[in-house]
Amino acid sequence: MDTIHRGLNGVNVDTSRICSIDGEAGRLIYRGYDITELADLASFEEVVHLLWFGELPTRSELDALRRTIAFDLPEPVLDMLAGLPKGTHPMHALRTGVSMLSAFDDDPDGVDESNVRRIGLSLLGRVPALVAAHQRIQAGGAPVEPDPDASVASNLLRMVNGETPTDAAVRVMDVALVLHAEHGSNASTFVGRATASTLTDAYSAITAAVGSLKGPLHGGANAAVMQALEEIGSVEAVEKYVLDTLASEKGRVMGFGHRVYRVMDPRATILKDVSRKLAEESGDSKWFEMSLEMERVMEREMGARGKQVAPNVDFFSASVYRMLGFEKETYTPIFAIARVAGWMAHLFEQYADNRLMRPRLVYEGETGKAFAPIAQRG
Ligand code: CMC
Repeated sequence: MDTIHRGLNGVNVDTSRICSIDGEAGRLIYRGYDITELADLASFEEVVHLLWFGELPTRSELDALRRTIAFDLPEPVLDMLAGLPKGTHPMHALRTGVSMLSAFDDDPDGVDESNVRRIGLSLLGRVPALVAAHQRIQAGGAPVEPDPDASVASNLLRMVNGETPTDAAVRVMDVALVLHAEHGSNASTFVGRATASTLTDAYSAITAAVGSLKGPLHGGANAAVMQALEEIGSVEAVEKYVLDTLASEKGRVMGFGHRVYRVMDPRATILKDVSRKLAEESGDSKWFEMSLEMERVMEREMGARGKQVAPNVDFFSASVYRMLGFEKETYTPIFAIARVAGWMAHLFEQYADNRLMRPRLVYEGETGKAFAPIAQRG
């Protein structure tokens, strides 16, 4: 019998030096540094440097990295966004935009280290620019000019909301970007690496990764969490929602469960704290209180069923993004903006020591059928 690893569960496809996850202890490490410390002390750009070059940057390295990040979009890409029908999902717009950017790159196909790094740097600024421009255009406005001296977190808030963000909001945004930057061989990163393993270009790999992230079992879960909270509407209604969902066929409560973590995702622990603080500061505690109640009911119900299903990164990020003023449709694109850092780090690794990814499927279909010419098939 051929062994089948459905969902590639437990399969090691290669080695990596980027990220390690201890699902039993709930620990996440980027290049040797614990995520809790990075979320506390590092900016997104420092984490990009860490993921891409293996070390935290010196001051001058960080300045050089920040200076290279540009948020400009080619005019035809902006025209493409303006031509999309009203209501186009931002992840469809982003996937199309990333793919289209390749046409405006003088060397989209080179997979040598320096060219792929150049593309990565370009996408670090252009992906948030695409997300923000799409949102502004869909709302009937024009894209907002970035501040060339500001960080990715600051410019994301500026370009989406159209005003200079507060330092506190920028810090929260930075924490969210750091937490979403990398997570080992998750579905979209694997898709990106598998795509790159054909030695196709980095734009194709990132386009494929964006498409994978969009799914509700992956990055799309953060928007699904907010959708559920909005539908529920009050703390009192949470319990019934959870029980009804679990009682339904294949009932999944979004924002819970993980392929790797058997305990609470450490990113969820940090975001829970951020969500609590934002709720206290803003006086708008509804979304946090509902999230707490959902966590409580899920803990009880999953415990009673003997399942290790705890909040994941998408759960508390929903209320955090809500309190930062983002529409729920923008939640998954924010995930993508951060994950460009991790996706690119994995592309560097894949291209540097490539082997084509080509698993097998065990055939269970029919055999030995006789071919009937079309005239005899009725
Ligand atoms: N609600 C209710 N039950 C759940 C949930 C959930 N969210 N997640 C897992 N379970 C149960 C599931 O029913 C199964 O029970 P049984 O063994 O009786 O069939 C058991 O836990 C194991 O689940 P699984 O689907 O076999 O585990 P998996 O590793 O294939 O799935 C997952 C992981 C993330 C797809 C799943 O937990 C899920 O669908 N969660 C909801 C969507 C979500 O929040 N996704 C974000 C994931 S984390 C960040 C990211 O990647 O973006």
